[in-house]
Amino acid sequence: MSKGIISKSVIRRLPRYYRFLGELEEGGYVRISSRELAEKMGLTASQIRQDFNCFGEFGQQGYGYNVRELRSQIGNILGLEKKNPMVLIGAGNLGRAIAAHINFADRGFELVGIFDVNEEIIGKNVGNITVQSIDEIDKFCTENKPAAAILCIPKNSAEKVSDKLISCGVRAFWNFTHYDIRFSHPDVIVENVHLGDSLTILSYCLNSVCEK
Ligand code: NAI
Repeated sequence: MSKGIISKSVIRRLPRYYRFLGELEEGGYVRISSRELAEKMGLTASQIRQDFNCFGEFGQQGYGYNVRELRSQIGNILGLEKKNPMVLIGAGNLGRAIAAHINFADRGFELVGIFDVNEEIIGKNVGNITVQSIDEIDKFCTENKPAAAILCIPKNSAEKVSDKLISCGVRAFWNFTHYDIRFSHPDVIVENVHLGDSLTILSYCLNSVCEK
């Protein structure tokens, strides 16, 4: 379906399309034109057509897009039908919040294990998963082959832990630490999340003229 390598900026818009189309579907929409979709999403119709054209023909000239079909195709592009096994490292404040609030199944993942170093946390349950000692990670990876990991540990532990996970076969990181994993592992897939950066953008937009 895809016409080659898709730019990261297009990929970054896809989850929003996916979420938005889900809301339209729930609201009873069957078809929508690129113009109407653009108006609702605050984008331009040509931007939307360009984005969808990266993946092949989605709509039909004059008929618009079938909402359910389009959402399902975007879901396939995002790989959401897969359930890649994922581990969470660090069951502190942030780790527990992520485990409780993220719907992994809807995002193409399955949370299969949670690890920490703190004896007071090890053995406790987070949701329906029992926190294990990080010392068990080798054995766990051999048995469960997680493809991805969420890092919610202090920055000073991140290098050692990410090196270990990569040596155990983990290929992708949802990285909340401020450690740059790709500096020493340029081939791994990393999605860095910095809530503080997002807040800084809000500050900029509050104090300057900013695109809506
Ligand atoms: P926390 O102190 O509540 O939790 C950290 C947990 O990691 C603790 O349970 C600790 O025992 C565990 N841990 C430490 N070393 C470990 C190791 N080697 N292996 C396994 N577990 C280990 O801290 P919090 O608030 O949950 O923050 C976690 C990390 O996320 C910090 O690096 C913090 O700076 C970062 N953070 C990032 C945000 C972002 O937007 N990127 C937002 C909030 C926090």
